Formats: sequence, C-alpha cells, structure tokens
Amino acid sequence: MKRTINNLSVFTTGGSKEKSILFVHGFPYDHTMWDYQVKEFGEKYNCITYDIRGLGDSPESDGQYTIESFVDDIENILNELKLDNPVLCGLSMGGYISLRAVERMENKFSGLILCDTKSAADDDQGKIKRAVGIKAINANGAEKFVEQFVPNCFAEKFTRENETEYLEVLNRSRKHSAAGLKGCLLAMAARTDTTSYLQKISIPTLLICGKEDKLTPPDVMKSMADKINNSKFVLVEGAGHMTPIEKPEIVTNAIKEYLIHNIWIV
Ligand code: MLT
Repeated sequence: MKRTINNLSVFTTGGSKEKSILFVHGFPYDHTMWDYQVKEFGEKYNCITYDIRGLGDSPESDGQYTIESFVDDIENILNELKLDNPVLCGLSMGGYISLRAVERMENKFSGLILCDTKSAADDDQGKIKRAVGIKAINANGAEKFVEQFVPNCFAEKFTRENETEYLEVLNRSRKHSAAGLKGCLLAMAARTDTTSYLQKISIPTLLICGKEDKLTPPDVMKSMADKINNSKFVLVEGAGHMTPIEKPEIVTNAIKEYLIHNIWIV
C-alpha cells in the first residue's frame, strides 16, 4: 500500500505491526532496491520502504537536506504508522541515516541491519568528491552523473550477467532530479561521524558487506562490527556495494537468521 507521509512516498506490505522492518535505501536509488527482501518478508512481517526526500517518488521540495532532516523523516514515519520498535535496515546512505537515527533514538528500534555502509564522515577528499559530483551535475546533467556513478556500485560480473536487471535499476536512477541528487550529496558531505557511538549500540546488529564493495569495503565494515557488542558480520562473496540486489538470497537468508535468533525469537 502506498501512502504519503509529510510529502514522502511510503510503501507498506503486510504483517502485524509488532514485527516491522523499516528499510532505508542507498544513493542514487529508491525504495525498489529492497523489492526482493519485501517480497520475502512481506508475508510474515510488516515491511516499510520509502523514497528518501528528493529521490524516487518523493518530491525534492527545496532540495536542502541534512542527515538530521532525513532522520526527522524516519521519526515521522515511525509516529505516523505507529510502529512498535521496528528493526531498522539501511544500505550505504541509508546506513548513514540509520546509524544517526539509532544514535539519536535507539530506544525506538529493536534491531539494526547495516548493509554496505560506514560510520565515518567524509574526509576532505570525500567532501571534494561530492563537490566534483555537484559540479558535474550542473555541467552535464543528472543523468550523466548517475550513468557514471551507478556502475561503480555493482560487481562487474553482476552487470555483465544480469543486464536486464541492472539496466532496470540504472533507468530508475536516471529519473532522479538534479536538485534531489545534489541535496543528497550535500547532506552526505555534511554528515556527522557516528563511530564513537558504535560501542554504545545495545540492540542486536547485523552487518552485511559485498566482498567486492569498492565504496564501503569489507575491512571498514568488519572494523565497525568489532566495535559493536552484539553484532554479526556477514561477507557476501561475488557482490559489490548493492548486496540486496546482487545477492538477494544470501542477504535475505542472513536477515532471516538474524531476525529469528536475535529479534523475534520463536
Ligand atoms: C550510497 O550507496 O548510498 C552512496 O554510494 C553512499 C556514498 O556516496 O557515500
């Protein structure tokens, strides 16, 4: 079911309200990157996906975002849907948002799943790269930027062997507006570092990373897992940065195990 919450496009699928999973997508993607997981978990659990402001079906508004305002959006979704301690699951930019959401209001969540993300903020080189991205969007348009950004997110083997699926993702990303993309780049460049909070996380945390992830490589995520008390790290062979799309069965099985053993023990 699609609904609008504070101008955001939010999608809910099945399940009881007591067992909810809120999925937060990466950049420059939209809620459909979680389609496989929603299909798999939607019968048993209440799955919520949404389009981050400025991406997908969520309008760009003034194009001025921060990770804080993205966390405010999550808080609104929790309140509006009356979600009872959902599990929060974020990939990459969705992970930055999830980590900050947990730092701000951990008591509102029962678990945390981090896919292909990191807790460190952008260093100077990273910030300059964001600026170069914004300049490229201004000079050549949003589509060109996306066409250059997206291939880096996938393992080459996946794009070669799954052309139709890959092109579907790429074509969706091509539709994002320049203002939405630039707003997200600025929000990511200005995000805080959540590393010092990792050792304070007390909810069970699952970390998943593609072995060929060039953006947030496995050693980065493994060192995050080492800092989190109740955590498990899963390395996904043959995947790049987009593990839920590239290796959906492995990711879904890892999440299933985690939910059964740590969250909704049955
Ligand atoms: C993402 O996948 O969300 C982005 O690649 C994250 C980033 O650019 O830092």
